[in-house]
Amino acid sequence: MADEQRLTVGVPTESFPGEARVALVPATLPSVKKPGMEIVVQTGAGEAAGFLDEAYADKGARILDSRKEVFAAADIIVQVRTFGSNPDKGKGDLDLLRPGQVLVGFSDPLSNAEGISELAKSEVSVFAMELMPRITRAQSMDALSSQATVGGYKAVVLAAGSLPKMFPMLTTAAGTIRPARVFVVGAGVAGLQAIATARRLGAVVEAYDVRPAVKEQVQSVGAKFVELDLDTGEAEDTGGYAKKMDEEILIKQREMMTRVVAANDVVITTAAIPGQPAPVLITGEMVAGMQPGSVIVDLAAERGGNCELTRPDEVVVEHGVTIHGPTNLPATVPFHASSMYSKNVATFLLTLAKDGKVNINMEDQIIRDTLLTRDGEVVHPRIRRSLGLEELTPEVKPAEVPAAPPGELSPAPPAAAPKQPPAPAEPAQK
Ligand code: NAI
Repeated sequence: MADEQRLTVGVPTESFPGEARVALVPATLPSVKKPGMEIVVQTGAGEAAGFLDEAYADKGARILDSRKEVFAAADIIVQVRTFGSNPDKGKGDLDLLRPGQVLVGFSDPLSNAEGISELAKSEVSVFAMELMPRITRAQSMDALSSQATVGGYKAVVLAAGSLPKMFPMLTTAAGTIRPARVFVVGAGVAGLQAIATARRLGAVVEAYDVRPAVKEQVQSVGAKFVELDLDTGEAEDTGGYAKKMDEEILIKQREMMTRVVAANDVVITTAAIPGQPAPVLITGEMVAGMQPGSVIVDLAAERGGNCELTRPDEVVVEHGVTIHGPTNLPATVPFHASSMYSKNVATFLLTLAKDGKVNINMEDQIIRDTLLTRDGEVVHPRIRRSLGLEELTPEVKPAEVPAAPPGELSPAPPAAAPKQPPAPAEPAQK
């Protein structure tokens, strides 16, 4: 149980099938402990990522035997996947949560609003890491970006492992080998890292994105930007994310990309619009036009895929082309994925908790954009809309949740009260 004026942060083992990441790694604990937070870790929570209990204990964490004990001891639970993004295996956590507790992690609110509604009933304050605004101040908390970096890297490693060719150009006594050709579609965080990784392996890389602004970034990591004569209009929203494109434009894009796709050995697709099904950019016909032995890695598989033939979490071979549809690549590089996520979470915790108290400051865009539920209600306007709920007026007031005194549960935050209008959004990072 928490000491007076000390918040306790709990790290349970991830329960999603195949999830090998952990929300906090030992190296990050000192930065969380410094402002006075205690840390409890479920035994074995970091093992799959390469972090043993002893390493956590060395950094001052208490190791607890069961999930139940971690939930009971913690004021703030940090997870890679909360119940929202782990609705099947995470269901048991609903019984362990208690009013006033704070839950931080990927929560999939844009696809699973119903799950968020269920979480709200536990009267916990849930913060969704994937809703972190893309503003300069939140860069070190941007977990989507950190995990997409890992995903982009691993996509190339996966492709290199399946391609019946080598990536680099080699001049040997046994002949000259031409470099592999890689085409990356979508040059966001994952795409740029995929380009950089493919270049490091010696491939010739080209890339396309509907946001013309990324041309320079593509070139700076060593790829050629493919120019398609498409009128994508204002392809970027105010948050720095791509907007949904009209089907008419997508048809043209597919036509124009057919030649490029056919000329490459590897195609890595990362084109996604948050909260929307992924646009189909590669049809079965386009796959048929590729050389046998070619490889597609579709990072948008979880949202339906950028390739028509992708099947989530399967490897399919069609027309001699291998198509990978991985949905959780970061979990396959769990040491570094966890280390980066841990840094994101720790920085967020330092924003959220000060002087032994959780401070839900709705004037702060980072708090306002990521807060999903509070006092038994879904409070995030976008998620309320998708649930068909009315806008909240008056909105939830900024409030402080003190740490539980020894031997008591954390008190629930005060009831909702009128609040000032939201502060203006800070400029997006890109
Ligand atoms: P992002 O939002 O930074 O990048 C997506 C890019 O796709 C943007 O630059 C956007 O302009 C572009 N795009 C959108 N529509 C397009 C179109 N029609 N043609 C060309 N480009 C288009 O996202 P980020 O962080 O790079 O992640 C990319 C995707 O990869 C996300 O869906 C993410 O969830 C997914 N991902 C999947 C992993 C896995 O294991 N499958 C691992 C990591 C990320």
